[in-house]
Order: sequence, then structure tokens, then C-alpha cells
Amino acid sequence: MPLTAEKVLGWRRPQGHVLQLTPDGAIAPIGYAELNPMQRERGHLWLGHVIVCPTERGRGIGTVFVRMLLEYAFDQLAAHRVSLIVYPDNKPAVACYQRVGFKPTREEYHAFGASKVEERMLRLEIRPPLPKT
Ligand SMILES: CC(C)(COP(=O)(O)OP(=O)(O)OC[C@H]1O[C@@H](n2cnc3c(N)ncnc32)[C@H](O)[C@@H]1OP(=O)(O)O)[C@@H](O)C(=O)NCCC(=O)NCCS
Repeated sequence: MPLTAEKVLGWRRPQGHVLQLTPDGAIAPIGYAELNPMQRERGHLWLGHVIVCPTERGRGIGTVFVRMLLEYAFDQLAAHRVSLIVYPDNKPAVACYQRVGFKPTREEYHAFGASKVEERMLRLEIRPPLPKT
């Protein structure tokens, strides 16, 4: 099913931060992500829906974007921990997160949307400071 603007707008959470990457001179963003607060722990943020425009993938943009998101989380939002979940077989995503410094913490099972099928996910986590590149 194609990703629509309406669907993306529906992802926003009231306390969350929606971030977009728009290169100088570009007329539209090429990256999208959300940083949402975790309810039970102040300063613990959830990184979700990281997406790079399909025509721009595989050129290092995702890695730069995730690094910028973490700098914003740690420096501007005073986060002390950022977590996410990813499908373990999503190799570009896992490589991108690990390159920036995320470490796997555990496997989890989640059912998404109306589905009752629990899918195996990998949880990754990072705390400041960001590793040097
Ligand atoms: C995940 C995503 C944001 C990464 O962005 P990107 O711009 O493609 O990432 P990069 O170019 O920085 O590549 C990141 C790593 O993936 C590797 N990679 C890229 N394409 C790959 C592929 N098809 N298979 C395996 N590894 C791949 C790159 O070599 C790089 O690894 P390295 O740093 O060890 O060399 C992007 O692929 C995307 O939008 N995917 C669809 C949405 C999605 O799955 N989001 C993640 C949700 S958790």
C-alpha cells in the first residue's frame, strides 16, 4: 500500500516532535522522522518512522539524518536515552542506526494496527554522548 501524506500526518503525537530533512535549495523534504516522549521516563525518547525518500537511499543520507536527530534529542530536548524498534531483517535501517551508535538491547514481539500477529522486532538504544564519526 503506498504511503500517503494523510497517513504520515496521522502518525503525529501531541507531545511529539516531527522532524524533516530538507537540503539547501530543495523544494521538498527528503527525510522524515518523529521523536516522541516515553510516558514512564522523563528524558527517554522514542525515535519513530525514520524515512528517507526512496530515490535518495543508500547514499549515507539516512545516517547523517539520524545523527542530526540524535544531536537534537540530546542537545535541544535534553534526552538521556533514545530507543527504537526495527525489523531485524531491515538491513539498511539496522546498519544506519548502528553506524550512528545505537546498540541492540533485546528482541521484542509487537502486533501492529489491527493485526493480531506478533512480529519479532529488535530494540536498539543510545545514550549521550554521541560517538565521534
Ligand atoms: C532506513 C533508511 C532510513 C536508511 O536511510 P539510507 O539513506 O538508505 O541509509 P544510508 O545510505 O545511510 O545507509 C545506511 C547503511 O545501510 C547500508 N545499506 C544500504 N542499503 C542496503 C541494502 N539494500 N542492504 C544492506 N545494507 C544496505 C549502507 O551500506 C549503510 O551501511 P554502512 O554505514 O555500514 O555502510 C532508508 O533506507 C529508508 O527510508 N527505509 C525505508 C523506511 C524504513 O525502513 N525505516 C526504518 C524504520 S525502523
